[in-house]
Amino acid sequence: MRKTLEELEAKALAALAQVKDSKELEAWRVSYLGRKGSLTQVLRSLAELPIEERREAGKAANALKALLEERFSERQETLRKAEVARLAEQAKVDVTLPGYPVRLGRLHPTTQILREATGVFSEMGFEVVEGPEVETDYYNFEALNIPKDHPARDMWDTLWIDMCGREDIPPMLMRTHTSPMQIRFMEKHVPPIRVVMPGKVYRYEATDARHESMFHQLEGLAVDRGITMAHLKGTLYEFARRIFGSERKVRFRCDYFPFVEPGVEMAIDCFICKGQGCRVCSGEGWIEILGAGMVHPDVLRRVGYDPEVYTGFAFGMGLERIPMLKYGVDDIRLFYGNDLRFLEQF
Ligand code: FA5
Repeated sequence: MRKTLEELEAKALAALAQVKDSKELEAWRVSYLGRKGSLTQVLRSLAELPIEERREAGKAANALKALLEERFSERQETLRKAEVARLAEQAKVDVTLPGYPVRLGRLHPTTQILREATGVFSEMGFEVVEGPEVETDYYNFEALNIPKDHPARDMWDTLWIDMCGREDIPPMLMRTHTSPMQIRFMEKHVPPIRVVMPGKVYRYEATDARHESMFHQLEGLAVDRGITMAHLKGTLYEFARRIFGSERKVRFRCDYFPFVEPGVEMAIDCFICKGQGCRVCSGEGWIEILGAGMVHPDVLRRVGYDPEVYTGFAFGMGLERIPMLKYGVDDIRLFYGNDLRFLEQF
């Protein structure tokens, strides 16, 4: 038994000297002092010894146990101190090291184009005005000649606000276009009027390369005596020339919007296929950028203007379409995908 204990002591102490970290130390403890450890086995086997040997062997085995436990604690303490020292070393601040580079923020491309576009109109004498994104049915539809059940409501898939059963206030919606601002502005002002009204609009529709469910529009409105379609075309041609350059082609076509008469749409030749037709322009060769027209006499009457005296033009353009056409962005969804690799290019 004495020999066994001596061998065990030598083996255990040699193994302990090799232990490098707390994980290995725990493995050592389990292997020698654990419930199934070598020394525990020896202690259990004492019962099988003849009574005269048992006393002495028991004493020696318990002494070895105390020794191993003591060495275990010492090693544990040494490792702990080494770990503390290592962490302290790691945490040291080297003030001579260069700092982490700070990434500078920049304006979102939509904000940039919004400022550029409103800047062009400001120089043409238009004032910039903003209005609410949550609208009533009246301003978004009714006042714009789109009564309930009018088929034109299908042109704008609407996100309605849950009114939580409140019937004392009119139903609200996320504005589907910036045209309600025409009414809001005319109600409070008298001609002559020249305003542009930028902002977010929302549509409950499937997205694709040219369509988002949240995007920005820039509404324009001019009302005065003697305003004609020629003023509308002149203003929009000048805008297109200033933003896209004179080499880009501009196309006007008849279109229908209940709040203008006549109505038109303006398109720019597709930046990718140069008018040949591709995926981005759905094979048309043109990308529509705005709807426009002469303000409908009924709309003027509704805000208290005499359509025999005053006429006006209005337009509403999709702002994201401008950088798409200008810089060749082939998917509108990139604008709000928060991918810095895209955003940092502007
Ligand atoms: C309108 O929203 C009318 N309020 C425009 C208007 C104003 C007409 C004043 C007459 C007088 P429309 O739904 O076509 O029209 O949208 C206008 C422009 O917004 C489009 O030409 C396009 O450039 C952009 N647009 C429309 N839908 C989306 C969409 N889902 N995603 C991104 N841009 C869009």
